[in-house]
Amino acid sequence: MSFDFFAPCPRGLEAALAAELAETAQRRLPPGALQVGAEVPGGVHFRGNWAGGMAANLHSRIASRVLLKIAQRPYRGEQDIYALAREQQWEKWFSPNETIRIDITAIKSPLRSLEFATLRVKDAICDRMRDKAGSRPSVDTAYPDVRIFAFLTTTDCTLYLDTSGEPLFKRGWRLDKGAAPLRENLAAGILRLTNWSPEQPLYDPMCGSGTFLAEACQVAMDIAPGLSRSFGFERLKQADTAAWRHLKSEANTARNTAMSRAKDLQIFGSDISDVMLEKARANFSRAGLGNVPLKQIDARNMTPPAAGEGILVANPPYGERIEVRGRNARGELRERNPRDDDGYDAPDSFRRAHTDAPDAEFFQALGDALKQRFTGWRAFFLTSDRKLPGQLRLREAAKTPLFNGALECRLFRFDLIAGSVRQRPAKDAASDENNAG
Ligand SMILES: C[S@@+](CC[C@H](N)C(=O)[O-])C[C@H]1O[C@@H](n2cnc3c(N)ncnc32)[C@H](O)[C@@H]1O
Repeated sequence: MSFDFFAPCPRGLEAALAAELAETAQRRLPPGALQVGAEVPGGVHFRGNWAGGMAANLHSRIASRVLLKIAQRPYRGEQDIYALAREQQWEKWFSPNETIRIDITAIKSPLRSLEFATLRVKDAICDRMRDKAGSRPSVDTAYPDVRIFAFLTTTDCTLYLDTSGEPLFKRGWRLDKGAAPLRENLAAGILRLTNWSPEQPLYDPMCGSGTFLAEACQVAMDIAPGLSRSFGFERLKQADTAAWRHLKSEANTARNTAMSRAKDLQIFGSDISDVMLEKARANFSRAGLGNVPLKQIDARNMTPPAAGEGILVANPPYGERIEVRGRNARGELRERNPRDDDGYDAPDSFRRAHTDAPDAEFFQALGDALKQRFTGWRAFFLTSDRKLPGQLRLREAAKTPLFNGALECRLFRFDLIAGSVRQRPAKDAASDENNAG
């Protein structure tokens, strides 16, 4: 039996996700089990059987979720949405004993209240279950057994069952400390955009909790990103449990042979903060990733950690003081940021209060380090600061728009080619401020 699926992803990574899904289909599944369809802003459609949907959940590093399409129809008001949801055979997928949660996303919907629409979908599902299965399921917004997702455009309502449960960027091994570091699926997508291959050195000189490094290790060691977590489809009545056992056992076998590949990895990280490095170490150990060499270094003093032409990737701090956490350049304690636990995720008021000279000095020194010591490397920086190339005094070879949640960012690429590093005069930096694009 075949279904239509939709895999949402961070905007800007649609093509990377489509390529990844096609690879999963080719490497892990029999022909026809997963056929990649259209890329649309924010995700990729695909068609497949249960094994295809489950493999996408288990193996996609870039998708945020895998949604199974239940129905789609034009609507004009909440009553149409109620009717559409009421007609669906929810009792085939779950029982009234399962708790549910409904989420709605809309683009240019004429409806006044999405909250009311959400309630109508909930009512429709509960009414249907009461009629067909004798009782109504309860709602649990925190830990639901089953998630239903509705997507509204100007004209159409589409209902989906969420086969993932928790979003896929939650790999199950990160020590969660509240504020969010770079999401795993954004980091994985960026790695794909860098064209890094596991034989090459990879270095993140501002590695924080180690998201790029952990994702890279898992790619290199062929560890399925979903191996340490559970999925929403495991609670659905129609899930193909035999196919799931098979997929998991294959992925487990791959992980068991992975340790032999660990010794060949050339994946390195550093950060100025020992606290962040400790977090990175704890994350690697929970993810079973062995020993990634990590050093406490100010990025201004960085040197290539391996011979050869490597890939440097980082999301540098933006708008916070570039210094050892908690002290300014003179060693004075600075005011406490309520989210200092994760440092870089400072609220806007805090950012504005601390954006001035230290940033400019830091990025100029970082640019010098790249030019002087990283010949032959390609450097990629994710930032929401469009002035970064000017601050580094380097001309970018490419820039790709990407969204980090709602925040519009650029992935800048700098090719540090021998003898021809494309420097840019300081005056260019000022024009960036006016022509940021
Ligand atoms: C935006 S975070 C990187 C987050 C990381 N990608 C992750 O997933 O956790 C920026 C990092 O730069 C580090 N940092 C700040 N100033 C630095 C400096 N001068 N040298 C090296 N690292 C620095 C911070 O400690 C922080 O971990």
